Amino acid sequence: MSESTRRLLGKTFELKALGQQTLRGFDAPVAAWLIAGERENVSRFEASRSETMTPFVGREQEIALLLERWHRAIKGNGQVALLSGEAGIGKSRVLAMLREQIGQQRYLALRYQCSPHHVNDAFHPVMGQIWHAAGFVSGEAAGSRLDKVEKMIEGTGLVSSNIAPFLASLLAIPTGQRYPALDMAPSELRERTIDALITMTIGTAKLIPLLMIVEDAHWMDPTSLDLTSRMVEQMDDLPILMVTTFRPEFTPPWVGRGNAALVPLNRLERDQAVTLIERMTAGKTLPAEVRDQIVAKTDGVPLFMEELTKSVLESGLVREENGAYVLASALTPLAIPSTLHDSLTARLDRLSPIKETAQIGAAIGREFSQALLEAVSPLKGAALDEALHQLMEAELIHVPPPSHIIIPRRGFPSRRRGAGSRPRSWRWRNRRRWKPSVTPRRASRWSRTSKPAPSATRSNSAFWSRAPTRWCR
Ligand SMILES: Nc1ncnc2c1ncn2[C@@H]1O[C@H](COP(=O)(O)OP(=O)(O)OP(=O)(O)O)[C@@H](O)[C@H]1O
Ligand SMILES: [Mg+2]
Repeated sequence: MSESTRRLLGKTFELKALGQQTLRGFDAPVAAWLIAGERENVSRFEASRSETMTPFVGREQEIALLLERWHRAIKGNGQVALLSGEAGIGKSRVLAMLREQIGQQRYLALRYQCSPHHVNDAFHPVMGQIWHAAGFVSGEAAGSRLDKVEKMIEGTGLVSSNIAPFLASLLAIPTGQRYPALDMAPSELRERTIDALITMTIGTAKLIPLLMIVEDAHWMDPTSLDLTSRMVEQMDDLPILMVTTFRPEFTPPWVGRGNAALVPLNRLERDQAVTLIERMTAGKTLPAEVRDQIVAKTDGVPLFMEELTKSVLESGLVREENGAYVLASALTPLAIPSTLHDSLTARLDRLSPIKETAQIGAAIGREFSQALLEAVSPLKGAALDEALHQLMEAELIHVPPPSHIIIPRRGFPSRRRGAGSRPRSWRWRNRRRWKPSVTPRRASRWSRTSKPAPSATRSNSAFWSRAPTRWCR
């Protein structure tokens, strides 16, 4: 694989450097890498981030709230914290900070990592958790794994023979002669596996406080969701804090419980964004116009700030001079780093019913009129109005006054507001501005003359055709 793919993979795999390779289709030798295997014990957060973490900024209130819930939990009042926010807003980082603040206190962390590739695989996050907790390694013999499972169960003070067969079946470990086959209907096996898992968690919590981390619950399979819900119902008098992270498209079933706290993460304020960028450049200030462009385009999302700042530093746009950065060439609109395509696409995926409208708009160009869009879109009239309205609510497009041309914003969304938080008149005004007042002739002239985004490089033009996410304001 190439250097750019290696960077996208982060620390997910063990890689072997193959050095500079002369490859067909490339004029000069290129750095190449080989996947040697999957890394174990690396969370999605750890795997996806670069070597050094950006110094932490803000989030004092959220961390204080989580700590307060932690202190209630360890006194034996089980708590659930629901840490929500869009991709890259900092949910996992806040969790990491919580663990840092908990520090050396005696507790056990159980991590349940959900995956976009396993949304329908029953018990997937639980299997990962047991794999790590039991200390499995790849290629291990079944007997050795069974030993580890039994040891883990006995460590919680329970009789392993009551639970081990269910965990072995869950993890597809052949039990040979050690346990009789589980001869029961799939529904009963599922129920008894859930019981075994809850029994083990309760047993462990009676020995040591638990921090149960359920990461990315928006990707949780239905069986794990059921298991988690049942666990939540049984932990009122146990020293457990369950922190669930999830993106806005998911509504956890535990909202509204007396022991559940909502911790939504908003975008960072402008001064926090400036601090984050300054900390990333290690005291060497960026030219004000570059910094302002980064702040404006990343609109309070830390992941975007990190990636865009990194890409600016690596792009050759700035160079160091007397302990500061100065512009090395004329400032042009900044391009989307490839590392961000996933999170931008995720934002569009959330809007799947209207994704096609966004894609058609993007195919037309950075700017398009409603008349032209309507001419080519399968959606017409009120349905198209509604799709545009939703894209605007998601802050993927905007209508710049006084023109009636709709511009997909090539920057990142400004502070997200819930649909209901806007005054009706405001929404109405915007809806009215979409009424086609551009004649089809003018519209087609626009479509002919509208140029591709200045920053759309060859490498990201394919992305643009799929995801018309705003980049430049
Ligand atoms: N307050 C902060 N200060 C400094 N860096 C931050 C802050 N919040 C997040 N980051 C950085 O931004 C990046 C994205 O954060 P994180 O992975 O926690 O987002 P997330 O909300 O968990 O995203 P996802 O939904 O994809 O899991 C990380 O590299 C993280 O270190
Ligand atoms: Mg995360």
